[in-house]
Amino acid sequence: MKVLVVGNGGREHALAWKLLQSQQIEQVVCVPGNGGTASMEHCQNLPLAVDDFEGISKFALKNEINLVVVGPEVPLAKGITDYLQSQGLQVFGPGRAGAQIEASKAWAKALMQEARIPTAKAAVFTEAAAAKSYVKAQGAPIVVKADGLAAGKGVTVAETVAQAEDAIAAIFQGQFGSAGEFVVIEECLIGQEVSVLALTDGLTIRPLLPAQDHKRIGEGDTGENTGGMGAYAPAPIATPELMARVQTEVLEKAIATLRSKNIDYRGVLYAGLMIAPDGEFKVLEFNCRFGDPETQVILPLLETPLEDLLLACVQQRLSELPPIAWKPGAAATVVAAAGGYPGGYEKGKVITGTEQATALGVTVFHAGTKLNQQQQVVTDGGRVLNVTGIGENFEQAIAHAYTGIKPIDFEGIYYRKDIGHRVVSGKQGEQTP
Ligand code: AMP
Ligand code: GLY
Repeated sequence: MKVLVVGNGGREHALAWKLLQSQQIEQVVCVPGNGGTASMEHCQNLPLAVDDFEGISKFALKNEINLVVVGPEVPLAKGITDYLQSQGLQVFGPGRAGAQIEASKAWAKALMQEARIPTAKAAVFTEAAAAKSYVKAQGAPIVVKADGLAAGKGVTVAETVAQAEDAIAAIFQGQFGSAGEFVVIEECLIGQEVSVLALTDGLTIRPLLPAQDHKRIGEGDTGENTGGMGAYAPAPIATPELMARVQTEVLEKAIATLRSKNIDYRGVLYAGLMIAPDGEFKVLEFNCRFGDPETQVILPLLETPLEDLLLACVQQRLSELPPIAWKPGAAATVVAAAGGYPGGYEKGKVITGTEQATALGVTVFHAGTKLNQQQQVVTDGGRVLNVTGIGENFEQAIAHAYTGIKPIDFEGIYYRKDIGHRVVSGKQGEQTP
């Protein structure tokens, strides 16, 4: 089998890596990929943009690609699946209609309300004055969200009414372009967040191991929000009892409601949950794709061949598969970031030590890296590498990841030293806000 993976992050490196562990996979092509996917055996990069649907389609047809797996939300929201399917390709990932579940927070909220999925109370506005008077009436803390895709930057958890008003003004002034035509204002929830990624063929839906990520840049979960500085799985806060409730109260309801709208959703449905101190949970958001960096801790624990699961989703026969099998133990990943991230940072720094790290048994997933003209791996983004360790328990997995990251170096390297501190200390997970 030949698989084409769309995207260039740590998530896509992890997908390609997992696929290539199977004897059934002859080759993986990453579009555009990164320095890690360029260096893997049986893997090659194709330098096309993720929204060059025609270019991707031509290549895939000419090279007899059996399956296309789409990593990021942007091409899904733009309809990559609809286009490639119309050309006769098999694609893992929802079509444009289904991707609205991530691409429009107002649409997702309406779906949750219709399906009676537990979620924060919310109101949608199309102009600033009405939004601001609603915020004044509700009081703070309160959450202000740009409706559309904003690369993870469209949400403000406002501690004061003034902060919420500023966020509303920024959105309607066009800070997020067309993503800011609507604003969703939501009740502020407290508790711990957990990511439940589930695979679906549109009829059956099966969760993967629950994961938690550390979103803040600083130790002790402080400072600015980032795309994620580390993650671990399986998140102990998501007990089997909780997962059983998520299955019936969230996942199955979401799929049934999508189906009632004639949306044939095949891919990942990712539910971002907030678990309150009393154990009740609400859905904060849905994503239409694998999480990053959650994927980098979930896939190393997956025993079932990934391509069997992905193809079963695409061919709508997930119910025929045996239960998803997992390796025992735990996984943790630590993100090595460029100095200055999530603010300004430099690129092009030579990365050393990844081979020593791999020799220590960790898996190094590349995110913002590329090969320069001298074929050296250099930094090319804010989050540069994910170092994943596995072990019998969290202590071992975390210690493994930190042993593995030590030999790695590039100018300005920064990583948090406390990934997983709450699972180890028994407090579990990151408290929000
Ligand atoms: P979203 O993209 O909607 O998940 O929002 C991004 C992040 O904002 C979430 O992961 C939470 O940390 C935070 N957030 C979103 N909605 C809420 C809410 N209603 N209450 C508290 N925090 C929230
Ligand atoms: N780790 C958060 C996300 O993938 O959206």
